[in-house]
Amino acid sequence: MGPAHPSGLELTPGLTAPWHAASAATTAEEALAAMRILIVDDQAFNIAVISGILREAGYQDIVSTRDPRSVPEVCVAERPDLILLDFHMPGMTGVDVLGSIAGLVHGPESLPVLVVTSDPTAQRRYDCLAAGARDFLTKPVDEVELLLRVRTHLLTRHLQLAAERRAEDLDEAVRARTVELEEARVESLTILAAVSEYHDDDTHQHTQRVGALAARLAEVLGLSRSFVSDLRRAAPLHDLGKVAIPQQILLKPGPLTDDERAEMTRHVHFGAEMLATARSPILRLAAEIAVSHHERWDGNGYLAGLVGEAIPLSGRITSVADVFDALTHQRPYKAAWERERALEEIASQAGRQFDPAVAQALLTVDFAALDESVAALHA
Ligand SMILES: [Fe+2]
Repeated sequence: MGPAHPSGLELTPGLTAPWHAASAATTAEEALAAMRILIVDDQAFNIAVISGILREAGYQDIVSTRDPRSVPEVCVAERPDLILLDFHMPGMTGVDVLGSIAGLVHGPESLPVLVVTSDPTAQRRYDCLAAGARDFLTKPVDEVELLLRVRTHLLTRHLQLAAERRAEDLDEAVRARTVELEEARVESLTILAAVSEYHDDDTHQHTQRVGALAARLAEVLGLSRSFVSDLRRAAPLHDLGKVAIPQQILLKPGPLTDDERAEMTRHVHFGAEMLATARSPILRLAAEIAVSHHERWDGNGYLAGLVGEAIPLSGRITSVADVFDALTHQRPYKAAWERERALEEIASQAGRQFDPAVAQALLTVDFAALDESVAALHA
C-alpha cells in the first residue's frame, strides 16, 4: 500500500506524496484543500461523481454549474481557483467555454482549466490548449489521476498567489521606505535652510516664507507641479552662503558701508560654492538660485550681471519672493513695511530689478492663505 493522503486517499506504489515531506507542507495542504474548484458539466451524475471524489480527498470548497453559458458569470461570482470543464455540452464545446472566459484564462488571473473529454485526440488537445486549457483528463475519469492533476494545478495556483502576495508586500514596503526617505530629505533641507538664517532671523521663518511664496508665484505662472514642489524646497536655501559672512555685517543695525556691502554680496558666491557639488535635483536647483537670486532684470545685479531671460527663472522668482518678504518684515536696519507699500515697490521695479511677469504674478497672491501654510509648517 502506498502512502496515504490525510483525507484517506491511498496512492499507488511508487508515487511520491510530498505532503508527508515536512510539517511546513501541512500548511500548503490545508491551503490547497480550501481552494475553490468549479466543475462545469451538463450531467448532474458526472458532477456528483467528481465532486464526491474530491470531497473524499479533503477538498472542501466545490461549486458547479450545468449551464456552460453561465461560466463567465459563475467565475465572477465564485472566483474559482481551478475549473474542471466537460468538453461535450449542449450548444457549447469546451473550446467555446474557454473562449468565453479568455480574459481569465490568458490574462493576469491565469485561471487553470482542466478539460475532461472522452475524445482525447491530438486535434482536440491542440484546440483546447490553444484556447487556454492547462491540462486534460480522459473519461471515464481515473480517481488517482484526477486527484494528482487537481493537486498539481492547485499547488501551482497556490504558489502563484503566494508570489503575487509577496510582490504586493514588497511594493508596500518600498512605498513606505520611499515616504520615509522623502520625509528625511525634506527635514534635512529644512534644517539646512534654518542654518542659513540662524544669525539674521530670530523666528527662522524668512527662508520658509520665501520658499512658500516662490512656489506660489511659480503656480501663478503656470509652471509644472514638480517644478513648484522643487522650488518650494530649494528657494529657502537661497542665502545659504550667509553662514560665511561675518556676524557684525549680517546684524549691523544700519546701512552698510561700501566695503561691507561688497563683503555681503559674496554670500552669493559662497552659497554657489557650497552647493556646487550637489547631485540631487533640488540641491542643484538651490545652487542655481543661490547664484542668481541677486541678478536684476536690467542687468545691474550680481554675481554675473545677467540680463532678462538669461537669468534662470528660479532666480527671477526667488528674487521677487525674497525682496518682498524682506520689505514686509522687520530687519536690524529697518522696520516692516505695509504689504500694499511693498507691492507698489515691487511693481515699480518690474522691468528694472524684477522680471515683469513675476512682479505681475505677485499681485494675484492670496497672502492670508500663504501665511497659513507657512504657519502650519512651524506648528
Ligand atoms: Fe541673498
